[in-house]
Amino acid sequence: MNPEQMTTLVRAARDARRKAYAPYSGFKVGAAVWAVDGTVVTGCNVENVSYGLSHCAERVAIHKAVSMGKRRLLAIAVVAEGAEPPTPCGACRQVMAEFGIETVIMATPRGRKVITKNLSELLPEPFLFLPKRQRTGTGRE
Ligand code: THU
Repeated sequence: MNPEQMTTLVRAARDARRKAYAPYSGFKVGAAVWAVDGTVVTGCNVENVSYGLSHCAERVAIHKAVSMGKRRLLAIAVVAEGAEPPTPCGACRQVMAEFGIETVIMATPRGRKVITKNLSELLPEPFLFLPKRQRTGTGRE
């Protein structure tokens, strides 16, 4: 991805953050994924009064993309307020690995701080069972 595309992705995540439903934690998160065909799919965290049912923004974005038939994902941007950009939780890192995300862009809402890392740095040894071509649907379904 080029720097322009990365800026587009961060902006989409920042806009999606406005839709966050986080009345319990008050911590609003936005995410956006870049599919291999250039489509951008957004997500926000969605909480529930039964706290454990809450969904992180990253997984909402990734699973939305998959439900749209986009399994081959290149990058994700995550935006939340804080002294430092948000680092995705372990569960979301594992879900990123499932769909081949390599680039993780973490940013504060006004772009004060932006950090880009490879997923391999955030999750060096993901649990993977099937080869990539089968996970992404380019091999057997
Ligand atoms: N959250 C995310 O959306 N992404 C993360 O990577 C970490 C946490 C959400 C879940 C919950 O709604 C709120 O932030 C506080 O944990």
